[in-house]
Amino acid sequence: MQNWLQLENKVIIVTGGETGIEKAIADKLSGLSANVISADIHTDSANKQDGIYHIYCDVSSKESVDAMVQKVIARYGKIDVLINNAGVAKPQLFVDASCNDSEYEADTDSFDFIFNINVKGVFLCSQAAAKQFIKQKIKGTIINMSSESGMEGSAGQSIYAASKNAVNSFTRADITTIDRYVKNYNIKGVTCNPTIIIKDGGSIQELVKHVPKDIELYLQVIAQDY
Ligand SMILES: NC(=O)c1ccc[n+]([C@@H]2O[C@H](COP(=O)([O-])OP(=O)(O)OC[C@H]3O[C@@H](n4cnc5c(N)ncnc54)[C@H](O)[C@@H]3O)[C@@H](O)[C@H]2O)c1
Repeated sequence: MQNWLQLENKVIIVTGGETGIEKAIADKLSGLSANVISADIHTDSANKQDGIYHIYCDVSSKESVDAMVQKVIARYGKIDVLINNAGVAKPQLFVDASCNDSEYEADTDSFDFIFNINVKGVFLCSQAAAKQFIKQKIKGTIINMSSESGMEGSAGQSIYAASKNAVNSFTRADITTIDRYVKNYNIKGVTCNPTIIIKDGGSIQELVKHVPKDIELYLQVIAQDY
């Protein structure tokens, strides 16, 4: 990835940026001289000297999201991009016909857990960032990490698939709404829909090898229109 992307000094919040796909993306963005903030409930690397600003944030809590945004503004004075990545899955049977009260059957706890992070988290973070974009009078970008599962469904993942489809609809609906009622700020929203990425036991470098297209797409979308 070359400097033509012109991400120098962009302030980019990556939720769930401590592991997985977003760790790979946060590292790449940081390497391109962007100011990267990892907002995650796991802040083990808070003291790591890796050029990334690590902030504790539970995306399912409005208080936590607002506090995170305040810290970013206090440090950088602006937000250019939000990447909503924090997401959870819990493979379970929709119905376990083999027994009653099965631990393998989806239940309301699983539903609340998945929807609170995957959908409510996207709503809270997007709203907070969009308000900031409007205040700053800039073209902000919101990238929502969805999943192929949200378009096609996947076995044993009915709640997760529904949550990712909600993310797709949410992206279309909230951006259209902002565009209609808040003219001139041109907030850009896209979803990224990766397929399953095998990463057990793999390093971040190996993970990046599996998702280069998605990462490039991310970076190109971020770079456009600036
Ligand atoms: N890995 C895949 O195969 C795959 C495929 C399609 C889509 N996705 C999506 O990509 C995204 C990243 O996937 P991944 O496999 O890298 O995930 P991961 O589990 O490796 O990382 C998710 C991160 O989110 C953080 N997180 C969890 N709950 C949080 C909360 N309440 N607030 C803030 N942070 C929280 C975790 O601490 C973790 O750092 C997710 O949205 C996932 O649904 C993943």
